[in-house]
Amino acid sequence: MTAVIAAAGSGERLGAGGPKAFVPLGGRPMIAWSLDACLASGSVAGVVVAAPAGFDHELGGMERVEVVDGGATRAASVANALARVATEYVAVHDAARPLVTAGLLDDLRAILVGDPEADGVIAACPIADTVKRVRVDLRVDSTQESTRIIGDTLDRAELWAAQTPQVFRTAALRAALEVDHAVRDAATDEAMLVEAAGGRVLIHDPGVPNLKVTTPLDLRVAELLLAERRL
Ligand code: C5P
Repeated sequence: MTAVIAAAGSGERLGAGGPKAFVPLGGRPMIAWSLDACLASGSVAGVVVAAPAGFDHELGGMERVEVVDGGATRAASVANALARVATEYVAVHDAARPLVTAGLLDDLRAILVGDPEADGVIAACPIADTVKRVRVDLRVDSTQESTRIIGDTLDRAELWAAQTPQVFRTAALRAALEVDHAVRDAATDEAMLVEAAGGRVLIHDPGVPNLKVTTPLDLRVAELLLAERRL
């Protein structure tokens, strides 16, 4: 299996003044934690990183790691990296999820290998919050600031939060990415595209924290969890 790490985001929401994947986390660039997990996994033969422009030198010379230019969107970054993948299976992972482990990558691959009917399997966990679909209240005068109101409440029992890694049969992911670029670029994960292509994608609850670093608070939490892991 090849691991593709999407690392070309700008990280604006983190406000660290540079690409999120290279923000210091526990004394090293955030992406280093994901690279460690991929390179320690017995299921991963090599890694392709989609990096932001000007950051390829930061990863230069690492054994089993290839760096490609990221694209304008996450899906474009993954498509660029996928062009270098020659293995039967591919794991797509966000550099923004530094708590990934080698064990999780191994488990996901084993699940997919064990189900010949499946096109992919993703890390995901049940949603703890009650989720509302929210809309703008049209009764409010258009000159006023819009007011948000609840449209409906979704059935929590059916809702899972998608994470990464997401492991696919490479042929299935490649085919799923071959859609109109507007559709491809609106995708917020790869499973979405495989589902839309009629693929069968399984769910696996990692059972361990696998948070996505988006805000400065997430960065603090990830730092504490990684420090705990080292004890
Ligand atoms: O922006 P968001 O946090 O959803 O990004 C998820 C992942 O996709 C991050 O690891 C980010 O670096 C990556 N990404 C990318 N290319 C883009 C945008 C995001 O590789 N153009």
